[in-house]
Amino acid sequence: MRIALIGDLHFVSPDDPSCRWRERRRHFAEAWPSFARTVALLREESPDLVVFLGDLVDYYSDENRDFALNQLDALKVPWLVTPGNHDFSPAAETDDTAPECPDPDEVRRRWAARGVAMGNRSVDADGVRLLLVDSPDSSVPEGTADWMRAETEGSARNVLITHVPLNTPEMADYILSVEPRRDLRKYVQSKAPTLFDDAVRGRVEAVFSGHLHFPGHVQVDATAMHLLPLGLCASGKAYRGQGRICLLDTSEKNSPVRIRE
Ligand SMILES: [Fe+2]
Repeated sequence: MRIALIGDLHFVSPDDPSCRWRERRRHFAEAWPSFARTVALLREESPDLVVFLGDLVDYYSDENRDFALNQLDALKVPWLVTPGNHDFSPAAETDDTAPECPDPDEVRRRWAARGVAMGNRSVDADGVRLLLVDSPDSSVPEGTADWMRAETEGSARNVLITHVPLNTPEMADYILSVEPRRDLRKYVQSKAPTLFDDAVRGRVEAVFSGHLHFPGHVQVDATAMHLLPLGLCASGKAYRGQGRICLLDTSEKNSPVRIRE
């Protein structure tokens, strides 16, 4: 089975009314036409499943949700998503131009109303168990480590997909080596500091995360941790590796990945 993994998209609908924020976020608001390139790459690769790493939208509004889902419908391929922080709200606490959003529980209901699941789930993909873990606020739901241990004990091969990277010293060092000013309270799972030791080490062969908008690979023991760059090509602002897709073939051992760009 061939699985395509795609990083943050940050779709903003041309019909969304939040004008001041749109001006500040023009690099994302005007990026959506580049998704046609991603769709073309996916058609060439014809994966059986696409998994998005979160931040489907730049901030939640019903208009942005519906616009993003219309874009994803163009894929004509089954897809899943693990949620990102922007799927719920913008950085309202730090930016007074940010639009108001409903509370996170209401936002989850509104995604679910369009058939989009965002909680912890496992999906079996031709001998590989995909664990989609809900981490948008740098924490994971209560009971996640126990759930992951049970899921991984029942499966020989496991892959973890989660928006915010796991909190390991190797990942923290890598992020700061690329961008020394990143706040690790936000850019790793700072509120789940033991998840790697509790439920990943020795159990999960690969981890895929987004959130940073730059690519990377960090090996921690037998676990390959991949950072996926921005899934769209931003307008007027270059993010390293932007627009790449990552391909995983479950017939190959230890989840080696292939990059298309
Ligand atoms: Fe993002």
